[in-house]
Amino acid sequence: MTIERAGVIGCGLMGSGIAEVLARKGLNVVVRDISEDTVAAGRQRVEQSFAKGVERGKMTASERDEALGRIEFTTDLGRMADRQLVIEAASENEEIKKKLFGELDSIVTDESAILASNTSSMPIVRFAQATSRPERVVGMHFFNPAPVQPLVEIIPSLLTDPSVADEVDAFATEVLGKVTIRSDDRPGFIVNALLIPFLFSAIRMLEAGHATKEAIDTGMVNGCAHPMGPIRLADRVGLDTCLYVGQSIYEETGDPANKPPLLLSRMVDAGRLGVKSGRGFYDYS
Ligand code: CAA
Ligand code: NAD
Repeated sequence: MTIERAGVIGCGLMGSGIAEVLARKGLNVVVRDISEDTVAAGRQRVEQSFAKGVERGKMTASERDEALGRIEFTTDLGRMADRQLVIEAASENEEIKKKLFGELDSIVTDESAILASNTSSMPIVRFAQATSRPERVVGMHFFNPAPVQPLVEIIPSLLTDPSVADEVDAFATEVLGKVTIRSDDRPGFIVNALLIPFLFSAIRMLEAGHATKEAIDTGMVNGCAHPMGPIRLADRVGLDTCLYVGQSIYEETGDPANKPPLLLSRMVDAGRLGVKSGRGFYDYS
């Protein structure tokens, strides 16, 4: 099947980036969020990223206009009816995602359509079980920022038809130009199983008063050649998303390395979510 019509659920940091990636490769994209405000914020995020792409010489102004013209922003989930691939990128909350998969199952008409989740950590099989077509549900995990980061983790659940995993893998590499890796349907898959304990160790170090955030970040940038330090990276990912990912991995594994530090929970309670809210560990206002 040639995938020409895609849908994206959620137009936050990741949904907007994924929609942009798809539109830049010529696909017709419908992206859905829950309110006019979140849709408007998503559109603005896509427009800003396109502007940056033009500025950096990654595309021309007319390519930007054409790509933007291929994206429809909506609050209507019913617009997913004729999609061949839907990538769910809503907030990292199992109940929200399971409900969405159930709704998509009744809305998407094409029996050969693929329903994918961009979850950072949650069991793909639980989303598959919320549908009547578990064999067509797969994990397709992009990285932030999606237009720049090459990686996509492909996660077949125990119920995924192997041909579906092969199809999204080929689509991600051949059409989107991404680098793929395969992971079992395990908490945090490959990358977040390694990344979350690292980010949480850095936050615990800060919480203990062991070092300043600047010292921790400077250490990893200048000592280990990371493009950005772990405290700044947590701010980029979104502190709420870090918290939910940690909670989900910890709940399943019991591994204390993934137990969210109290400081992280308090930051989220305070609405300091990182770059997306203007303030996290650092101030972006
Ligand atoms: N569109 C197209 N290209 C863009 C772009 C855009 N909007 N913005 C930047 N680029 C390109 C630039 O042109 C440049 O390309 P070249 O190397 O070919 O010149 C490249 O991206 C890097 O550009 P810059 O260094 O100028 O961009 P930047 O300062 O904005 O940094 C970044 C971009 C390197 C990705 C930086 O933001 C970074 O290191 N971020 C952290 C990345 C990371 O670790 N992500 C993983 C998060 S964890 C996750 O995603 C999983 C999860 O489930 C939580
Ligand atoms: P975000 O908070 O920036 O955006 C989430 C969006 O989902 C919000 O706009 C919210 O309004 C929307 N949403 C909530 N319920 C919805 C529904 N029922 N229908 C449609 N939209 C709904 O979060 P994000 O960083 O974009 O993360 C989205 C998903 O991608 C999560 O599963 C997250 O774990 C995963 N992810 C995040 C990153 C990252 O670095 N932030 C990287 C890879 C994967």
